[in-house]
Parts: sequence; C-alpha cells; structure tokens
Amino acid sequence: MSAEQTRSASAQEPGSTRPLGVVVLAAGQGTRMRSRRPKVLHDVAGKAMLRHVLDAVAQLRPARCVVVVGPGQAAVAEAAAPHATAEQTERLGTGHAVQAAHAALGELAADPQAEVLITCADTPLLTAETLAGLRRSRTEQAAEIAVLGFRARDPGGYGRLVLDADGLLQRIVEAKDADPRERAIELCNAGVLLARADLLFEALARVGNDNAKGEYYLTDVVGIARGQGARIAVALGGEAEMQGVNSRADLAAAEAQMQRRLRAAAMTGGATLSAPETVFFSHDTALAADVTVEPHVVFGPGVSVAEGATIKAFSHLEGTQVGPGAQVGPYARLRPGTVLGADSRVGNFVETKNAQLGAGAKANHLTYLGDTVVGAAANIGAGTITCNYDGTLKHRTEIGAGAFIGSNSALVAPVTVGAGAIVGAGSTVTQDVADDALALTRAQQRTVAGGGARFRASRQAEKARRTGADTDGS
Ligand code: UD1
Ligand code: MG
Repeated sequence: MSAEQTRSASAQEPGSTRPLGVVVLAAGQGTRMRSRRPKVLHDVAGKAMLRHVLDAVAQLRPARCVVVVGPGQAAVAEAAAPHATAEQTERLGTGHAVQAAHAALGELAADPQAEVLITCADTPLLTAETLAGLRRSRTEQAAEIAVLGFRARDPGGYGRLVLDADGLLQRIVEAKDADPRERAIELCNAGVLLARADLLFEALARVGNDNAKGEYYLTDVVGIARGQGARIAVALGGEAEMQGVNSRADLAAAEAQMQRRLRAAAMTGGATLSAPETVFFSHDTALAADVTVEPHVVFGPGVSVAEGATIKAFSHLEGTQVGPGAQVGPYARLRPGTVLGADSRVGNFVETKNAQLGAGAKANHLTYLGDTVVGAAANIGAGTITCNYDGTLKHRTEIGAGAFIGSNSALVAPVTVGAGAIVGAGSTVTQDVADDALALTRAQQRTVAGGGARFRASRQAEKARRTGADTDGS
C-alpha cells in the first residue's frame, strides 16, 4: 500500500452533507522560481505540486473543483484535467483569482448551504485530513469562515493572522503591508480558506487593491466579513504541512519534508530502511512488508516492491516491479518496464530496461538487458549485453527458461535463445539458438608450446639493445 492510499482511508468526511466547491489557485507566475515552467508544475517526490493538492482535495469528494489558471498556461490546464479550469486573464491577486472561478462553480457559488474551500497549488504538503479538520472546525465553531493557520519558525513572507481576545480571527495582514508589530506575529496564513459560498463572493466583491502589491488579496475577505459581523475560526496545523513554495529553496524544503513523510510511511508499512535519510522515494513508491532497503537507494516513479525483496545500496529504480524475495543491487539500475520475478537476482552494474526476468533468474554482474524476456532460472553471465538497438529500431531478445549465457556474450536482437540452451562465453549471437543447444561463436584457440617464453626473451633482448644504444651517448 502506498503512503497516499494509507492516508486516504482516514480523510473522508461522511458526516458533512453540505455541498463543497473547491477552488485551487494556480494562476500565479511564480516569478521567484525563475523558471520557464509554471511554478505549480514543479515536482515534489516526482509529482507536480498542483497534482499533490488536487489529490488531497479529491479525498473530500467535492461537488465541484475548479482550478484557476493563468493566460496561456495550457500545460497547467492539462495537468488539472479532468477538473474544470477557469482562466484568470490578468494576474491581479489571489482574491481576483477566486472571482475568476465564480462562473465555473455554477449554482453552488450562490448557495448559502454550500461551502467553498480555497487552496493554493503551491502548498503540496497539505493533507486531506487537515482539510477535513478545517471543515469540522468551521462547523463546530459555527463560523462563516475558517482559515488554516500555523506557527512559522520564520514567518517571512507569509500573511499574519491577527486574532481578537477570544481567539477569533480579526483580519489577515500580508507581510508587505504589515507594521513591525504585526510582522512580529508568528501565526501565519497557510493560504487555505473555507467559507460559506454566498458570503465569500459578496465579500470578494468589496476587496480593493490599495496595498503594497496593488493586488486584490483573498485574505482581505476576512476583515471585510468580520466587519459585517461574521464569525471567523482558525484551525491550526503544523508548519511541516503548511509550508508554501515560492522559490527553489522552498521547493527543496518541501521535497525534504515529503521525503521524511514517505520514509516514515514505508517503515510504518513494514519495510526496513537501515539509513532512511539516504533513501529517496516517489509519491507512488509501494513497498510491501518485509522489504529491506539499504542505504542510498533512489526510487523514481512507478516502482512496487513485493514482500521480502531486498534493494541493496546505491541502486536506482524507476517504472519497475520487483517480485517477492528478489534481490537487487548493489549498484543496479532498473529502468521503466522492468519486471523481476520471485527470487530473481540483479546484481552490481546491471542495467535493465523493458526487461522481464522469470522466477529465480539471475543477472548478477555487469550486464545490459533491454527489450528482453528472460525465462525462469536462466543465468545471465557477467558482461552479457543485449544489442537491442541497431541505430534506428529497437529489437527483442528472448532467453528461455534455464538457459545459460556465458560471460561477455553479445546477443544481437532480434534473437531467441531457447530453454536450456547454453551460449559459450565470449560469443556474439546473431542467430536463434534452439532449446538445449550449445552456441559458440568465438574463434578456435591456438596454443604454441614454449611460445610465451620465447616471446618474452625476444622482448628483453630488444630492451637491452635500446638501453645500450642510450649509454653510447647517441
Ligand atoms: C499567499 C497568501 C499569504 C499566505 C501564503 C501561504 C494572499 C494575498 N497571500 O501568499 O497570506 O501566507 O499564500 O503560502 O493570498 N495566484 C493566482 N493568481 C494571482 C496570484 C496568485 O492564481 O493573481 C495563485 C498562485 O499560483 C499560488 C497562490 O495563488 O498558487 C498563492 O500565490 P502566491 O503569489 O504564492 O502568494 P503568497 O505570496 O505565497
Ligand atoms: Mg505562495
């Protein structure tokens, strides 16, 4: 079970019957990232930040989810599919961005029974449980609006939450607009706001842009609603989950946090990680119970490892299924399309791509297996290369069950080596080998009795001749 599946189990909210609309803000330029790629498409644990947010939100089962994208951000709209998108034609701030989603929310936007959850696509660590908790606290505190807050170690550029004596939220002040006393507030806005739908859009219509950035801030909705007598609750969460990503340094911090979470989930699921801080996971890495992962292993996207398998140090896996009891590495590189059967072995400096190894098959050293099927219990000797690419096309190699490929063999695809067949070491196989046949392509060996000694003597004589010539002063 992946970490995501484990989390989803506890996030659903059967208790809440109010229709929920979600607006995910993703139209910002992300200038601080200094990237051609839109900020929200940068990956954390191998998945775009926007997708992390959408996957968390999906667990609340909203009636409607609208992603606000910027002009010309086709790639963001594509990543948002199948959710509806609304285009914010000019980037005039987060409040303006929510207004852009108004039409796409349809009737829900005017429904006093409905609630609208607004999240930013640049907070990839937020969990569905926390969002569900925000919904609960709005209900429990009979508040019109609930805001997610956290205490930041370094509040920096976050909006600050200004509370009243009862602990209710008075207003949010953006860092750039805060006076020194407000800037000293540690309680920060995580950028997630949940509001009664009709009240949200009424308040948004009153938001102005007379502030440090000249933008329409979503956060101003709080002060405006409060001025009209609304109750505004704050739900607190941990910084580890709330941190937003505005720069490359923030991205690295979010990645580190996500990795901590994935490592913890892997160990909770029954995997042994002997040096967890050196193992890197993808959002979807699935480790079964009793998997052992040695230090310095990297999991790219799409890897599952079955029970009892061991991934030894310094291995790199992506798009791979590792069967039960299999042993990988050290120093193995498993590329997409690799499927390792039960108890198979892939050892040091072996690279596989689109390769299926049957149960108990072994490729223990220095081998490349590409576009290849290896039968059960076959043995691939050190230095075997499947020559799968002719410079234009890729071709397949099939190696039957129980076959033995001698060391340093080249199998020139397309080619089949039958079950139980033996390929002699150092062969270059260009034609199919029948079941149980022996194929040898190397040249006949010639041995000359005493030839080694004679050769050495002639070299030594030549060396002496050259040294003598040197001392003659020539
Ligand atoms: C915002 C909050 C701040 C909070 C912080 C949490 C406001 C005004 N500020 O600041 O209080 O502490 O998030 O991380 O809301 N976006 C649009 N259209 C725009 C501008 C932004 O869609 O015109 C989107 C961005 O893509 C991003 C999100 O809104 O996903 C937040 O924008 P960003 O510029 O990152 O705001 P922060 O300065 O982080
Ligand atoms: Mg931000």
